[in-house]
Amino acid sequence: MAQLWGGRFTKETDKLVYHFNASISFDQKFYRQDIEGSIAHVTMLAKQGILTEQERDSIIAGLKGILADVESGRLEITEEYEDIHSFVEANLIERIGDAGKKLHTGRSRNDQVALDMKLYTREEVQETEKLLEELLEVLISMMEEHLDTYMPGFTHLQKAQPITLAHHLGAYFEMFKRDVLRLEDIYERMNYCPLGAGALAGTTYPLDREYTAELLGFAGPTLNSMDSVSDRDYLIEFLAALSTIMMHLSRFCEEIIIWNSNEYRFVEIDDAYSTGSSIMPQKKNPDIAELVRGKTGRVYGALMSILTTMKGIPLAYNKDMQEDKELSFDAMDTVKGCLALFTGMLRTMKFRSDVMARSAMNGFTNATDAADYLVGKGVPFRDAHSIIGRLVLYCIDKNTSIDSLSLEELKSICPMFEEDLYDAISLKTCVEKRLTIGAPGQEMMKRAIREGKDFLEHINAERKKI
Ligand code: ARG
Repeated sequence: MAQLWGGRFTKETDKLVYHFNASISFDQKFYRQDIEGSIAHVTMLAKQGILTEQERDSIIAGLKGILADVESGRLEITEEYEDIHSFVEANLIERIGDAGKKLHTGRSRNDQVALDMKLYTREEVQETEKLLEELLEVLISMMEEHLDTYMPGFTHLQKAQPITLAHHLGAYFEMFKRDVLRLEDIYERMNYCPLGAGALAGTTYPLDREYTAELLGFAGPTLNSMDSVSDRDYLIEFLAALSTIMMHLSRFCEEIIIWNSNEYRFVEIDDAYSTGSSIMPQKKNPDIAELVRGKTGRVYGALMSILTTMKGIPLAYNKDMQEDKELSFDAMDTVKGCLALFTGMLRTMKFRSDVMARSAMNGFTNATDAADYLVGKGVPFRDAHSIIGRLVLYCIDKNTSIDSLSLEELKSICPMFEEDLYDAISLKTCVEKRLTIGAPGQEMMKRAIREGKDFLEHINAERKKI
């Protein structure tokens, strides 16, 4: 058991207590960020004359050696250390001797862990954003391909009005676009460096916090040392954004599962993304979509967990905050995994445009347009609605569709119907006449695609600047 704080104690820590308290099993995940933070810290200490240049160089060489050895597998992170901070410091002292004992000058594990977690989360925000962008790219190219793939749009899971697949996919494009924007927003707000806040009240050493922040790519230092060590808002915001991403993915998965069902057959999920049954030879199940839908719960769980952990903590650092890690890491990994798999599944999925179009043609998806046709002939909309309602009932009784009726039959219900009705309520007209902003008509969708591409170019350019 290697601890940094043995001096004040006369007895060994109880073994169970040691393990209950230790965090090395999970905080080893940010060994790299811990070392990066320490390198910036000693660079600043030397600039301020708190360490000599030799001490700085020897510490940095030692830290880089530890990093290289951990990455190559030569140095194993073991449970004999309480946490990753102790592991790095103990190994440093072992490697370079007394200079290593100066690493922790003007620093506490409280500001250190606040920094590590922030550095780790900041990278996760970027990686998640990258995966979202890949998904958006796939969506845009599918939208371009399916501008005239007609399908029914639903409300209450009942056929409502015809749309195109491009339009349906475009709805998800908007959702994931907002997710990207949310991440960018979080990144900007969180990008302030807590290092130098000390345990809670800063330090008496003349630290240059602005310099440390700059070295680590932050916009500046955090402004209140108590808040610096106890703030996990950024993590809560990120988990909320991750939960929203999962909610979007889950809705999409739910639709794909429905579309892939024997009853719908709108899509066929690629064999590479499906699984079979141990007993029923005919089965090809959409397990990946189901798992993504299912994993949404654990991401929400991580958000609930940290909100609950934080709600009762008095200022400043309390050990409760160590609980910010395990479930957050799990949520971050889960979302990245789900995004990558989902994108692959979508990219390889086959859409059956014939089945979709057929489905759009029955179920009276053109009833609204038939009512609008009568409005065009001077009938007030409410009356037109009622006439078409009767017409639908008539069709249901005869097991047919509005556009299959003869003009005589139509006229027997309303004399204002003319030959031009057929064209007015064709699938193509129903979709293509919808040209208001955001509607499925091809011209409007082309504009939406252009704007989507501009968005992707813009965020790509922004990323290059970072
Ligand atoms: N393992 C701790 C955590 O994750 C590091 C900070 C320890 N600070 C302390 N005062 N005990 O929060």
